[in-house]
Amino acid sequence: MINAKLLQRMVDASNDGIVVAEQEGSDTILIYVNSAFERLTGYSSNEILYQDCRFLQNGERDEPVLELIRLAITNGQPCRQRLRNYRKDGTAFWNELSITPVYNEADKLTYFIGIQKDVTEQVEALERVAELQRQLDEAQARVRALENDQRR
Ligand SMILES: Cc1cc2nc3c(=O)[nH]c(=O)nc-3n(C[C@H](O)[C@H](O)[C@H](O)COP(=O)(O)O)c2cc1C
Repeated sequence: MINAKLLQRMVDASNDGIVVAEQEGSDTILIYVNSAFERLTGYSSNEILYQDCRFLQNGERDEPVLELIRLAITNGQPCRQRLRNYRKDGTAFWNELSITPVYNEADKLTYFIGIQKDVTEQVEALERVAELQRQLDEAQARVRALENDQRR
């Protein structure tokens, strides 16, 4: 078993954002964020502690995804969703967000661990592939139309 201090160092050394939140009314407020979360979002921990993480959405609300996150939190279920977030400087990134509830026997409360992975490169590569596929389909349709014209 590793000691608490080493575990804290491990969490802080992670390349992905790791946060802990607790329920406060209908919000889940941040009570811990690691260094990678600060680097990813551009916010320092003292700027955002005790706030709900929705400030990263900058008012751009992907309601179907948020509904799934809300439902999972309410039901105490883990969830993993991809959503667009914004850094402090306003630049956007794609966040693959994993949230897991953790029940603490000691204070009989449920906490949530959130892991934020920047998947911007993968999402942009997939968008590019989809765009190239669309262009290819269009070009093939044009070739077929030309071939049909020539046969007539
Ligand atoms: C541990 C934890 C981490 C979260 N991390 C993020 C995040 O990085 N980005 C984000 O947009 N929402 C994040 N959320 C989700 C929001 O806090 C909120 O639950 C979501 O916006 C849906 O609720 P709302 O419709 O009331 O805003 C996180 C939630 C929890 C519990």
